[in-house]
Order: sequence, then structure tokens, then C-alpha cells
Amino acid sequence: MLYIGIDLGTSSVKLLLMDSNGNVVNTVSEEYPIYFPRPGWSEQNPEDWYKAVIAGIKKLTYGIDKDKVAGISFGGQMHGLVILDENDKVIRPCILWNDGRTKKECDYLNNVIGKEKLSDYTANIAFAGFTAPKLLWLRENEPESFKAIKKIMFPKDYIAYMMTGVFSTDVSDASGTLLFDVKNRRWSEEMCSICDISREMLPRVYESYECTGKILEHVADEAGIGTNVRIIAGAGDNAAAAVATDTIGDGMCNISLGTSGTIFISSDKFGVDENNALHSFCDANGKYHLMGCMLSAASCNKWWLKDILDTEEYEAEQAEIKDLGENHVYFLPYLMGERSPHNNPYAKGTFIGMTMDTTRAHMTQAVLEGVAFAFRDMLEIARSLGIKPERTKICGGGAKSRLWIKILANVLNLKIDILEAEEGPSLGAAILAASACGGYKDIKEAAEKIIKVSETVEPEQEISEKYQRQYEVFKKIYPACKDVYDII
Ligand code: XUL
Repeated sequence: MLYIGIDLGTSSVKLLLMDSNGNVVNTVSEEYPIYFPRPGWSEQNPEDWYKAVIAGIKKLTYGIDKDKVAGISFGGQMHGLVILDENDKVIRPCILWNDGRTKKECDYLNNVIGKEKLSDYTANIAFAGFTAPKLLWLRENEPESFKAIKKIMFPKDYIAYMMTGVFSTDVSDASGTLLFDVKNRRWSEEMCSICDISREMLPRVYESYECTGKILEHVADEAGIGTNVRIIAGAGDNAAAAVATDTIGDGMCNISLGTSGTIFISSDKFGVDENNALHSFCDANGKYHLMGCMLSAASCNKWWLKDILDTEEYEAEQAEIKDLGENHVYFLPYLMGERSPHNNPYAKGTFIGMTMDTTRAHMTQAVLEGVAFAFRDMLEIARSLGIKPERTKICGGGAKSRLWIKILANVLNLKIDILEAEEGPSLGAAILAASACGGYKDIKEAAEKIIKVSETVEPEQEISEKYQRQYEVFKKIYPACKDVYDII
């Protein structure tokens, strides 16, 4: 049998075909546009996602026996607000996870409703990218759109809805809405009332590994696959990546170095970060995880090299980087504001420390290091909670750079396990589908059988110590710039 994993990302959808033994048979990726209608805003059209998914499935399964596809599941960019009217039409473009327009609404939720209540109802506080503040923004700024809402869903669930007609989501994606009672794995009546929505507008919530329905006949025809395909709820992209990296088990850690940067810590028990910097979410394995999320990670490198230096020679640019831990140029990677730990949509990308002898390579190095230092900020929060991982897995596009992994290992002082299969969320989604269709006892068994470590990068004491001194400097820059960010 064959299983399809769909990772509905921010720059593209990545599709993966896996066989019953966990071998990756084929992968395809289809891009779609992202719109930044104003500084700090970020939107996409759900219809673009759907078209890309159908085109992607056709290419992915070209030439294979179409009746062999048994299941499809998803990983997806989280927090996006997709709204449908009474005719199931998309009302307005989706407001994405890295959109920063809701500062006022977050201040209202965190300061007037209060962090304590929010944490009590949902295990989290308000961050600009979360779904609930976007609903408040919509009510205030686009009242007609708000009034027309009949269904609220999240990016990957829109695709699942189009494919099955079943209005569903999964516990991990629901966790990122601030409308969900994470501890008890159900929608929060209190948050529905605060956001002025009814419970009926929200989808039914499944565990990530549960089957939600079957593919609709016309969709199967359109995509060129059989009609006997089961659809499995899937997970938010980071929870799906955790499955794909076998980060399943108390205290295990995964770093995703993608458009966003996340540090993900699997947890057998429900817990809340009292600093409110790490998110407390339901996991794809029926348990929980803590997660820190920075809004711009590998995207900083792409921005710097492609948009600013106008080159796609990433390796050649990095080959010029020599002395790790000795760069006096620093970069703060807040190109879309920042979520964890600063929770400040007005934070900005910042270079500091240049002198007349600063080279292009120093600047490129500063970008890689700045992202690593921002990861360290999130890891320090976890360490302050007594979570002290010794090693982590890694996935995401940025993990293709061995230099960046070496920088991260030394800045974080962690061993980093590199995996044979680099795919991340799309592979996690395929594993969820295979487990749900009976290919494995559960996702842990599947991940243990399928996922293999190919190499471990260890920190080197001398470099780590140099980075420790540099991190002390890095920590001073954000507080020094914070007031300026508000006025530029
Ligand atoms: C997680 C988050 C991002 C998106 C990116 O909280 O906002 O990782 O899911 O796709």
C-alpha cells in the first residue's frame, strides 16, 4: 500500500509518497504566492493551496497503480485563519501564522482578559500569529467579513474539508488557536464567548492519527487517484515534523530550521511554561509538547542571500565563513517581528557591530549566528523550566547547511542528530496515514522503524565557549533596541 503525506507550508506544498515499509517513493513540491499587503501583514489564498495540492498529487502518483493509495494525511502551517461563508466560499485571504497586525488585540487579551485567565482556559497566552486575536481584529476592522463567518478552519483543514466534506481539525493545530482547552483537548467555551463566535463555527477535533473520512469521488477523479482513500486528521507542521524525526517520548527535542524556527520538546504530561514564552500544545501522539517559535529562521538566510545579495549560491557564500565565535557583527532575526520569547510584532531585523573591515562573509555569518542565538533564547527558557536536553534532532530546509548545524550545535551546546530522511512534516503526515490505516501498531512504532540517524554533530568546547561570550552580547541588543522598534 502507499500513503501520501501533504505538508502545506508557507512558500510551497510538499507532497511525499511512502510505501508500507516506510520508503520514500516520490516527492513533489508546488509553490504558491504569499502576499504582504502592508508591513507586518502576511496572507495567502486558500484556493491557491488547493490547486497546488491537486496538481501535486497528480504529479506525485503519475505512473503508479492508483488503487494502491490507501491514505492521505497532512502537516500544515499553523494558526492561519481560514473563514467560510454559508455557501462554503472563502470570505477573505487567510491571515497567516507570521502576520503581526493584531498587537492591539493581543494587548487586550493579555492585559484586559489577563494572561492568567487565558492560560487557565487554553494553557497559552495571546501571540500576534494565533487565531483568536485575528478574529477580534476582523470583528473590528472587517465587520462584514466577520458577520459572514459560518466556518472557521486552519490551513491544512481547508484542504481536508475540500477533499472529504468533513469539517475537522486535529488537537495539535487546534492548540495554536487560543480557542482550545489544551489540557482537556476540547474547544474552550470561555474563549468562544470572548471572541464572539459560536461553538458550531469550529470544526470537530480529532487526534492526529484518527481517520476523519474518505476522499470525495470528484476529488479523487480530479487528482487521478482511486476512491478508496482514507483521510487522516494529521497535525500542525511542527507536531508532524516531530513524528518524522521520532521526537516522540518525554523530554525528546527537535529543532525545525524552516521558514520559522521551532524548538519542540515532547512531553508525557501536560505542563505550562510560567514565563508564557513557550507554547503548551497537544501532541500528535495523544500527549503534549512545549514549543518555542521564532518567526524568521531559514527565511533570514534566504532574504539576505536572495533578496539582498541577489545570489542563489548559498554554499559558495558560506564557504567564505572561517572563524566561528569571533565575528563582531551581530544580527537580530526579527524580520517579521518575534514570537518566542519576546512576543513583539514590532521587533525588526537588525545588523549591529559593523566596522570598515567588515566583509560580506561576516554579514552572512552574522545572519546564521543570529538565528542560532535566537534559538538559544528559546532553549534557555526550556532550561529554566528544568528541561535540559543533551541532544536534539533537526529538520527543515536550513538543515541542509552543515555549517549552520555546526553553528547551532556550538551556540546551543547540544549534540545534533541529522537524519537519513530530511523531509520533515510531509514524512510525518505519511507516517500518520500509514499508522491509521493499520500499517503499524502506533506512530511510535512506525517512527522507530522508519527514522534513522545518519550522523551526529557534537559541540566543540573551544567554539562553544566563544559563542557563550557572544551570546552574552547578543542578549543585550534586543533590550537596547526595543524602544526604537516601536517608532520605526
Ligand atoms: C508554529 C508556527 C510556525 C508555523 C510555520 O507555532 O507558527 O512554525 O506553523 O509553518
